[in-house]
Amino acid sequence: MDYIDLRSDTVSHPTPLMREAMAKAAVGDDVYHDDPTVNQLEADAANMLGKEAAVFVTSGTQGNLCALLAHCQRGDSIIVGDSSHIFRYEQGGMAQFGGLIPHTVPVQADATIGLADLRNAINPDDEHKPVTRLVALENTHNMAGGVPISAEYTAKVAEFARSHGLILHIDGARIFNAAAAYSVDVKDLVAGADSVTFCLSKGLCAPVGSVLVGSQDFIRRARRARKALGGSLRQAGVMAAAGLIALHEMTDRLIEDHQNAQTLAEGLSEIQGLHIQGQNTNFIFFSLAPDIGLTLDEFVCALREEYNIRMSPYSGEKSLIRLRTHYWIDQAAIAKTVSAVSAVLS
Ligand SMILES: Cc1ncc(COP(=O)(O)O)c(C=O)c1O
Repeated sequence: MDYIDLRSDTVSHPTPLMREAMAKAAVGDDVYHDDPTVNQLEADAANMLGKEAAVFVTSGTQGNLCALLAHCQRGDSIIVGDSSHIFRYEQGGMAQFGGLIPHTVPVQADATIGLADLRNAINPDDEHKPVTRLVALENTHNMAGGVPISAEYTAKVAEFARSHGLILHIDGARIFNAAAAYSVDVKDLVAGADSVTFCLSKGLCAPVGSVLVGSQDFIRRARRARKALGGSLRQAGVMAAAGLIALHEMTDRLIEDHQNAQTLAEGLSEIQGLHIQGQNTNFIFFSLAPDIGLTLDEFVCALREEYNIRMSPYSGEKSLIRLRTHYWIDQAAIAKTVSAVSAVLS
């Protein structure tokens, strides 16, 4: 990339190795299960997450929606965090396409949901109420600021779900960042979950795609949902080839993105008029002092026009800027960013 793009990890481009693998990928018609590269990706993803089976989907949103459609019946209620991506940023797909009713519960600053809140959200067996079917967690939690949740907490929620006859789905768009943050095998983070969506794009740099994992029977139903949503692809091996590189070459290096985020936050924190509000995994948030003489838009515009550096105000709260590090943000990019921000604010 010939510019510095810190707006998100979703802006990451495929790596040279991915482009090479995509060009050479063996392909077939995936609707006939004939694409060897997709089959390999699904087998490897299931194996890495410790589940029986997997299905390649076009996006995290599609993976979450296929999971909800495969697990639930129309009219069911699902328990989700009030700041979860599934509830806030997936256009209410669960209600639009599945007739599902979200029951929101507060997400705490550490990205967990209190067990008492989960318990209170379960509807009694009462003909006035929808049947509560599923609990969804998010790891790392986007709106909480990239905060990872631990294997211990997830195991508690899994036990809670099992004891109440509920299904546990994890929106693990960045689950490998959580695994890197806790230095644990990703399998341990999702051990008690019935299903997990994770993204091959974002920090793992594949241009397209996510994977949904779970039991054989669940994945068979998820494939039906994917077909109905228009997400069954033909020679998708071209994309799965990049996904295989994402899985096997990119997960272990995510810790570098976290270290880079920390270095960047430390560098920025020395600049007068800039206040770091948080740094977790590959996320950083900061605000500008009111007397700085620049609006956030003017600040962002100056960085883009004068230094070819892209940032954007945080969509959740306009007085903050959110940055995310990724593969294309190296030490040199961090040094350049710190000196450019310092110059713009001086
Ligand atoms: C936590 C989380 N879940 C799901 C998604 C959706 O992924 P996609 O953009 O691939 O649909 C995102 C996207 O940023 C996300 O942050």
